[in-house]
Amino acid sequence: MQKSFPKEFLWGGAIAANQSEGAALEDGKKWSTADALPTGIFGNIVIPPPENYLKKEAVDFYHHYKEDIKLFAEMGFKILRISISWPRIFPNGDDTEPNEAGLQFYDNVIDELAKYGIEAMITMSHYEMPLHLATEYGGWTNRKVIQFFEKYAETLFKRYSHKVKYWLTFNEINMTLHAPFNGAGIMADAEEVDKSVLYQAVHHQLVASASVTKIGHSINPNIQIGCMVAGGPMYPMTPNPSDMIEMMHKDRNTLFFADVHVRGKYPNYMFRYFAENDIQIEMTDSDKEILKNTVDFISFSYYMSYCATADEDLNIQSRGNIMSAVKNPYLEESEWGWQIDPQGIRYMLNLLYDRYQLPLFIVENGLGAVDDLIEKNGEFTVNDDYRISYLSAHLQQIYEAIEDGVEVLGYTSWGPIDIVSNSVCEMRKRYGFIYVDRHNDGLGSFKRYKKKSFDWYKEVIATDGKSL
Ligand code: BG6
Repeated sequence: MQKSFPKEFLWGGAIAANQSEGAALEDGKKWSTADALPTGIFGNIVIPPPENYLKKEAVDFYHHYKEDIKLFAEMGFKILRISISWPRIFPNGDDTEPNEAGLQFYDNVIDELAKYGIEAMITMSHYEMPLHLATEYGGWTNRKVIQFFEKYAETLFKRYSHKVKYWLTFNEINMTLHAPFNGAGIMADAEEVDKSVLYQAVHHQLVASASVTKIGHSINPNIQIGCMVAGGPMYPMTPNPSDMIEMMHKDRNTLFFADVHVRGKYPNYMFRYFAENDIQIEMTDSDKEILKNTVDFISFSYYMSYCATADEDLNIQSRGNIMSAVKNPYLEESEWGWQIDPQGIRYMLNLLYDRYQLPLFIVENGLGAVDDLIEKNGEFTVNDDYRISYLSAHLQQIYEAIEDGVEVLGYTSWGPIDIVSNSVCEMRKRYGFIYVDRHNDGLGSFKRYKKKSFDWYKEVIATDGKSL
């Protein structure tokens, strides 16, 4: 590229506690809802979790964090997005006191990052909550969970807000609608849950998000708190006006969540949707007041775009991460059927910026693929040119969006080190610049190896994107 990304652009990577740490029952931690989905979000809920499953040890970031952070530093990371495991801090969720060993672990991680000048970005709830809150309280369907989350968030802000600037409340909060146990600890599939119950849980999460935004700002006015949505934009399948209207509805499944976080109230279109679908939720005056505590920035994940059609017979599904939609004939797809659309990220950035004029942060993007570890000049590596071309094409489109005038704070690629996949709970689906020797059967040495993309990303960061 001729020009470079802004000097202050925050380059880095993103991981989640339940997919990387392992140590599922160590130092006082108890089960999380993520442990109860041993075969991924479309598999059965298993309580108690089985004896063996991949996330139990994951890639053992809990014991390897120093080694891993050193490698991130070698690539030149400016920021690492981590999530905090709620049950590591409040093992049951309704405990009166936090678990000091859990708090200490994240102090260690944040301090280790700081040693290399890497900022931490914290997600407070990345697809997990203490399992006890799901089994005993019904997850987020229960209003009491708001208080438990407030207490947890307050504990985190008091402990870390002097050293962590960027905070996110719920990972991909819009996915609660599609995977209710994964997102909100509701013990049922999306199709089985009564819509009023589902939207009540969503409402509780939205109130909790606004409430902890208020708490965070009052504890430290200098921190930046954002929302996080799964950002797969919709395209109309054809120019048929009915497809366009369908696209508008589908996009609102995502935009509703950002609208509430940014504007501090429900958008009018939701009231029509609730009325037409016989959805009743309890929204108190105090809830309405709390929702007014809006976010400082918007973050999103981007893996793919989707097509919307009004034609009920058109049923060529493209499975996404959690959602599925009609296949776009112009796009290729990954080995897991995720359609690859670099221009979609430029579109998504413009869509959100035109609507909100708030800074944006891309906190997930990447390609899940099968990697072959090979020996080259006596060293092990992976020739992941496919990953380099995916990421390179997306970064070039992000650059275009910046040229369009969009304020982009940074980019954290998903899974800079291989971690357990969320949707299918496999090690075979790898995203990293760093290969971890661990496999679907649970075997492996946990050794780390640099892939070809490791040096590529290092160069991208070192040149502020000029090498793209
Ligand atoms: C996002 C999630 O939806 O996609 C991550 O926030 C997840 O937790 C990522 O890992 C990629 O999905 P998967 O299923 O390939 O791991």
